Amino acid sequence: MSKNLVVAIDGPAGSGKSTTAQLVAQKLGFVYIDTGAMYRAITHLAIRNNALGNNNKIIELAANSDIELKFKNGVTNISINGEDLTDKIRTLDVNKNVSDVSKIEEVRKILVRKQREIGSKATSVVMEGRDIATVVFPNADVKIFLTATIDERAKRRAKEYAENGTEIPVTEIKNNLKIRDQIDSSRDVSPLVKAEDAIVVDTSYVTIEEQVNIILQEVKRIAENLDIDVKIK
Ligand code: DC
Repeated sequence: MSKNLVVAIDGPAGSGKSTTAQLVAQKLGFVYIDTGAMYRAITHLAIRNNALGNNNKIIELAANSDIELKFKNGVTNISINGEDLTDKIRTLDVNKNVSDVSKIEEVRKILVRKQREIGSKATSVVMEGRDIATVVFPNADVKIFLTATIDERAKRRAKEYAENGTEIPVTEIKNNLKIRDQIDSSRDVSPLVKAEDAIVVDTSYVTIEEQVNIILQEVKRIAENLDIDVKIK
């Protein structure tokens, strides 16, 4: 009988998680799930509804959100209650507030439930986030923790923004990353920490191809141990 595999990829902002997780999923033919997009979409709703700072209202917004994720042409498309929010979740305003929204325990419970539901469907998945290997799927078959130096991560984010037509000074991005890292790693609920049994991949000085390859080899090794056939495209 074939079993579905769960590949969990966690790490801080700018560690190369999204690009890496997308390529790994594509090469394995697995479904790619970006859980950060969910926290971002709820943050957008909170901003739009003037709910920042009002946790009860944010929880209510999350509880009434029917979230749909679809990965299309290299982009995670997200809609809530049928409204496409894809273009609204990667703004500076969302970046600045998303860590605070992610700290709310009830919001996390709602989103973790949804993530488990998606991950338990009859397909193998690559799921990326901050707490996938520790909380969402503590029994994930493959657990990867990506890291990179803060300077390298800030440079990457600046390049991403520039490619999308927004010039933001690297120092500003670096400050935003530092604040987010601090909040994400020190929050009481599901902080960003490496799972004990996760494999650390430092992406500061390797190419995307190299880091993707390291993970693919790890998936292959574990799949073989479980007697599961995986094909790398
Ligand atoms: O991966 P990202 O930068 O798009 O994530 C945005 C924010 O969402 C991040 O600052 C922390 C939060 N997040 C989280 O708390 N747990 C997850 N599983 C994914 C993201």
